[in-house]
Amino acid sequence: MKQLELLHEGKSKMIYATDSAERIMIRFKNDATAFYNIKRATIENKAKMNCAISTMVLGYLNDNGVNTHFVERLDEESQLCKAVKHIPVEVIVRNVVAGSMAKRLGIAEGTVPENTIFDLCLRSDELGDPLINDHHAVALGIASYEELAEIYETSARINTLLVELYAKAGINLVDFKIEFGRGSRGELVLADELTPDTCRLWDVESGEPLDKDRFRRDMGRVREAYEEVAMRLNNALNK
Ligand code: TMP
Ligand code: ASP
Repeated sequence: MKQLELLHEGKSKMIYATDSAERIMIRFKNDATAFYNIKRATIENKAKMNCAISTMVLGYLNDNGVNTHFVERLDEESQLCKAVKHIPVEVIVRNVVAGSMAKRLGIAEGTVPENTIFDLCLRSDELGDPLINDHHAVALGIASYEELAEIYETSARINTLLVELYAKAGINLVDFKIEFGRGSRGELVLADELTPDTCRLWDVESGEPLDKDRFRRDMGRVREAYEEVAMRLNNALNK
């Protein structure tokens, strides 16, 4: 598979075309941003750790019957993935109240709700990925109610699998963000990274964050947290 032109440069990844129309190449970056580019830094080793973590997590989901875009890891910082037609929403799955939900609704971080919470956000850097609901998504022509139901059902299944995996790694999966696409036959495909950039991961024993909140909130030891997650996942999967 040959790497061809750059299709898109995101905040934490580069996406390249390949000589197959059905495949893209994703190269992870060490760059970190938060609050829509207001805060920026380079975190040494992040690309390698995120590539390793996303490879393990998406490989595990593939093995458990979830259709993800991940095909194979190509080198330390890049992956070969299926090309899909992106659905421009973010689905946030929350097992524990934290971050924007805690702030917006005035609920203490760490509160455990009885249900799993699903947020839908419109993908738009200009608008700051605003929270929307199903009716907005249908009105915007993004998805039908039936397609949204499938997206939530798949997100719930992904959550169940990930909670189980992270528990084996001594990590509480607080929340995460995922995006989907449609494959060539119209099938729903999880088309996103799953890394400490896009998940909240709290150590079960201490409650310490092992994710990007360490960067967002200036908590230090960011690199070490990503390395810890990679190591623990590797152990959990090889148990
Ligand atoms: P939030 O509490 O800021 O809404 O974030 C919820 C989860 O989604 C958290 O794990 C971080 C992740 N997330 C992203 O991956 N990208 C984003 O743009 C945002 C806002 C959140
Ligand atoms: N949306 C944030 C940004 O603009 C990403 C994050 O906080 O994870 O960088």
